[in-house]
Amino acid sequence: MARYLVTGCAGFLGSWISQALIERGETVRGFDNFETGRKQNLVDILDRMEFIEGDLRNADEVARACDGIDYILHQGALPSVPRSVKDPRTSHTANIDGTFNLLEGARAAGVKRIVYAASSSAYGNQPGFPRKETMVPMPIAPYPVQKLAGELYMRSYWQVYGLETVCLRYFNIFGPRQVPDSPYSGVMAKFTLLMLNGEQPTIFGNGEQGRDFTYVENAVSANLLALHAPAEKVAGKVFNVACGERHTLNKTYEILAELTGFSKPPLYGPERTGDIQNSLADISAAREAFGYEPLVGFEEGLRRTVEWY
Ligand code: UD1
Repeated sequence: MARYLVTGCAGFLGSWISQALIERGETVRGFDNFETGRKQNLVDILDRMEFIEGDLRNADEVARACDGIDYILHQGALPSVPRSVKDPRTSHTANIDGTFNLLEGARAAGVKRIVYAASSSAYGNQPGFPRKETMVPMPIAPYPVQKLAGELYMRSYWQVYGLETVCLRYFNIFGPRQVPDSPYSGVMAKFTLLMLNGEQPTIFGNGEQGRDFTYVENAVSANLLALHAPAEKVAGKVFNVACGERHTLNKTYEILAELTGFSKPPLYGPERTGDIQNSLADISAAREAFGYEPLVGFEEGLRRTVEWY
């Protein structure tokens, strides 16, 4: 029976992916160091999986995690654009060295395929929407550079060693379990919690920046599909994972305010360094290669998120 390793299994996406695999009856090993992941995210699944506490920066721990594994879902990372601007070295080691350790561990263990959590921030601020995977990446902040380096390493290990690797460029994934109260929290989780607590969120810039906000269940389904799609369609390739819709922060604020019963207008502050202005994906490549379809739309995703917090 196939064995799966989920790195970052206690994190937002990693915990949802681990749970989905376990619910399908798969054998799952999780790996996390709880730097940003939370034990709380594992309570429903910990007794049905194997768990190794370890750090992606430690090559020996990573090698042990890869031993006996057939498929890897590499979600472990130190996310956040502003975190990488403030402390590039720490996120560099977690995201680049960590991914390199994982590839080396996977190669030694004879792993069949890795599905890698890449980032749409790699497109940067270049002109041209929607974003297509054929565009030349133009990352701005350290974090997108690190995530892009991971993609290139993934492709290299396919080309050089025949290790099947698939990169999924996530576009602003949101939903239950996303950390809402860290200085590096994603906007959706942060705004939801503030509004539910009656506190006024601040929009950085004029609020007309847009994102292709994508509910977490869509990203989980993309991972599961990419795991077993034919190698000739996916190996060594990159795919956008999004909904294919752009929503401005101002509009998102309005909907969230309505759902949470919050009546105050937003505060506005200066633009955040390293931010991109807009984001919108063309999702036809994922559709064609492995039948990806967004299952949960934007507003339904927001409703489920608000209900959870
Ligand atoms: C997000 C992800 C990143 C991923 C990228 C891919 C998070 C934390 N980051 O980056 O991992 O690679 O999508 O598309 O999920 N904003 C405010 N007020 C706030 C917080 C944020 O106005 O209090 C604004 C930001 O300035 C930005 C937008 O909201 O314009 C989105 O910010 P954020 O949720 O941090 O996500 P990204 O930086 O787009």
